[in-house]
Amino acid sequence: MTAKIIDGKEIAVKVRQQWKERVDKLKESGILPGLAVIIVGDNPASRVYVRNKIKACHEVGMHSELHDLPEDISETMLLEAIERLNQDKTIHGILVQLPLPEHIDVNRVLETIAVEKDVDGFHLYNLGGLVAGNTVFPPCTPYGVQCLLEYCEISIEGENAVIVGRSNIVGKPMALMLLQKSATVTVCTSKTKDLKQFTSLADILVVATGKPNLITADMVKPGATVIDVGINRLDDGRLVGDVDFEGVKEVAGYITPVPGGVGPMTITMLVANTVIAAEQKLGAE
Ligand code: GUN
Repeated sequence: MTAKIIDGKEIAVKVRQQWKERVDKLKESGILPGLAVIIVGDNPASRVYVRNKIKACHEVGMHSELHDLPEDISETMLLEAIERLNQDKTIHGILVQLPLPEHIDVNRVLETIAVEKDVDGFHLYNLGGLVAGNTVFPPCTPYGVQCLLEYCEISIEGENAVIVGRSNIVGKPMALMLLQKSATVTVCTSKTKDLKQFTSLADILVVATGKPNLITADMVKPGATVIDVGINRLDDGRLVGDVDFEGVKEVAGYITPVPGGVGPMTITMLVANTVIAAEQKLGAE
């Protein structure tokens, strides 16, 4: 079997068009949805992500602004910058790109973002909503994965979903979202003994570990859907995921490539969350 490739880039273009129509509607009501992106320091990967996020906002006609802060900014000054954006009526979504420098307490930063502007979905309130099943802003990467599964009409209910990686950004929220859709969910970590025992049961396998080639063809159930959230830069400069794409695509039913799989959808869902934040603001006025 050769897997169907889930072309996240192409799907993202189509999904973004739907969100653009909602942006246009908001503009007709006199609201221009606005996203503020804060980046601290010079992490090169973060710079690429942030550039792509700003670009996506422009594509759908939203306002966006980049707050480019120096590596040695104090935590107090960063919190003050967030407070100002919390009060700013032209801004509906605030995103602080992670990771932050070590002298800054990331939890304090995330808790300072107003919950109604937390379009990354990282605030404890929004994470709690995810647990309770009435999510306000789902974190963008797992939301993008869910959107890809739905777009490709891959059923979730009753399926075995195995997630490798337990990060707050991907693994944990992904588990909750798939559980909410009535999948049977297993979460594996970097310490899981005999990983293959679990991955080979998966109808849907989501991998987010940052370890190239962690998942090989022998670990995948024939016909499974394999979603690779990993992004790793190899010494030779190539960008790869956590899945041995060439091997696994001969076994899986569906597979996402890296790059061009989950990444474009993550950014699309950031646009979606910001549009929803603006719509909610309009509804509340
Ligand atoms: N760093 C890696 N992924 C993300 C993300 O989805 N949001 C933010 N803010 N930072 C990240």
